[in-house]
Amino acid sequence: MVESRVPFWYHRRMSEASHTVLLTADEIAARVAGVAAEIRRDYPEDTALHLVAVLTGGCIFLADLARALDRPVTIDFVAVSSYGAGTRSTGHVRLRHDLRLPVENRDVLIVEDIIDTGATLAWLLEHLGRGRPRSLRTVALLDKPSGRTVDAPVDYVGFTMPNRFVVGYGLDHDEQLRHLPYIASLELPAVTASGEPEQETGQPH
Ligand code: IMP
Ligand code: MG
Repeated sequence: MVESRVPFWYHRRMSEASHTVLLTADEIAARVAGVAAEIRRDYPEDTALHLVAVLTGGCIFLADLARALDRPVTIDFVAVSSYGAGTRSTGHVRLRHDLRLPVENRDVLIVEDIIDTGATLAWLLEHLGRGRPRSLRTVALLDKPSGRTVDAPVDYVGFTMPNRFVVGYGLDHDEQLRHLPYIASLELPAVTASGEPEQETGQPH
C-alpha cells in the first residue's frame, strides 16, 4: 500500500495491520469498461438506464461506470446501514436515506461496491421492487461468494474475490481509505481505526 495516501494517524494506529494490493487502478478501469460493455450489450440502445447506487461505498464505482456506459443514464442514491461487528454484516439492514426519484416503469440497475452476505442486496431488491420498475438488475464491482448467507442474484460482477476484508475505490474501514485508487486487503487487528474495540452498532456502507 502506498503509505502517503493513508492518513498518518491511521497508519500509526493500523501499523499492526498488513495491506496487500489486490487490484490496481488500471485493472479496475479495464474491468469497469468490460462490465459496461456487457451491460450495453444486454439493453437495447434506446433504453434509458436508471442507476441506483448504494451509499457510500458504491459512489466511486457508479461515477466510473456511468461514464463507461457511454449512453444517457439517470442516477439516484439510497443509503443503508447494517448491524454488525465492524467487518461483518449480521444481515439487519436499515434504510438511512431513501430514493429521491420514483423507479416505476424505469429500467433500474442497482450499483453496489461489494456483495458479501447478500443481505443488503436482497433487501434492496425487495425495497426497489415494491416501486414497480420495468426491469431490475444488479451490478457489483466485487463479489465474495463464499460469504453468502442470503440468496441475492448479481447480474454483473466485476471481480470475484476471496473472503478477505478489502478497502479502497469507495470501500472503507471505519469510514477511512475510500479514496485509495486501488483495492487492497486489510488484515485487521481486533480494534477499529479509533483504537476502540469494534461495537455492535449500525455501520453505514
Ligand atoms: P452484505 O450485506 O453482507 O452483502 O454487505 C454488503 C456491504 O457490506 C457492502 O456494501 C459494504 O459496504 C460492506 N462490506 C462487505 N464486505 C466488505 C469489505 O471487504 N470491505 C469493506 N466493506 C465491505
Ligand atoms: Mg462500510
